[in-house]
Amino acid sequence: MANSSHKLALRRRPRRLRATEAIRRLIEEHVLNVSDLVAPIFCKESGPQEEIESMPGVFRHNPADAVRLALDLYEAGVPGVALFPCIPEEKKDAKGSAALDPAGLIPRVVREIKARGAGLLVIADVALDPYTDHGHDGVWNAETGEIENDPTVFVLCEMARILGEAGVDFVAPSDMMDGRIAAIRVSLDAAELERVGILAYAVKFASAFYGPFRDAIGSRRGKGYLDKRSYQLNPANLREGLLEAQLDEEEGADILMVKPAGPYLDVISNVRARTLLPVAAYQVSGEYAQIIAAAGKGWLDLEAAYRESLLAIKRAGADLIFTYFAPLFAGIKL
Ligand code: PBG
Repeated sequence: MANSSHKLALRRRPRRLRATEAIRRLIEEHVLNVSDLVAPIFCKESGPQEEIESMPGVFRHNPADAVRLALDLYEAGVPGVALFPCIPEEKKDAKGSAALDPAGLIPRVVREIKARGAGLLVIADVALDPYTDHGHDGVWNAETGEIENDPTVFVLCEMARILGEAGVDFVAPSDMMDGRIAAIRVSLDAAELERVGILAYAVKFASAFYGPFRDAIGSRRGKGYLDKRSYQLNPANLREGLLEAQLDEEEGADILMVKPAGPYLDVISNVRARTLLPVAAYQVSGEYAQIIAAAGKGWLDLEAAYRESLLAIKRAGADLIFTYFAPLFAGIKL
């Protein structure tokens, strides 16, 4: 039994603020809302939905199903979707030519979503990796083995214009080429697409956590890890990442994104502190896969773990979060 001799003369007892559910709710600093989330959607040309092996609970959808899912997400409160294509191998080539087809998979899905007139925000990636047979985000010079910066930017400008004409609200360059934000802005404006925003993958690291995504779009090459270190950032470098964010802001980006999210919370909070623009974070495929796999083994509580992972990203300073957990959070059955 405690008696007075066990009492400490404490002036500060922080636990008073954690004693009841009511006080805990009142002093809560951050809340995760469905309106913070962007749902990535993988699209394919046709056929029934296919589950992505390394991302249980995430599927590739044919255009009609992708449109329906996008509209269902919007109904359930998710304000935005980000579309990614998985195209057949035979449509891929070294230059990623299929990215410039105005009748291609993504422009088609965008047009169909927009034809329904919903207020949903539609974001499309601008990068060549879903379309190249080597899986790189840019034009690959077979002689030097280099991913060529300026020729890639020219293609990305075209791609952004085509996506803008199809009706996207934001293009999201995820390629990490130099100077692409300014060039894409000029290209959009020249086509009278001033309304189209640029969500820049400004601080994108060469991360091992993209592995399952590459399965999803069919760009994983063999068992080895596709080396994108000549354009994506070294995970060891914070300052270099902040410089990239600053350059993308100067070049005219509307939103700055940090990617991956969970392992890079320090980067998110540093970008947040330095810009007045909205900051986005992408909780990538490998972050999703880790939680799902551990929960599947009964080692983690799925609900608690995924919500905590997203809340931490928000606390670090992200205004919006791309996450494969968006349908689950919004209560959508796939
Ligand atoms: C490609 C792109 C990638 C992701 C989004 N756009 C992969 C990569 O850079 O290799 C990753 C998303 C994820 O892992 O969930 N431009």
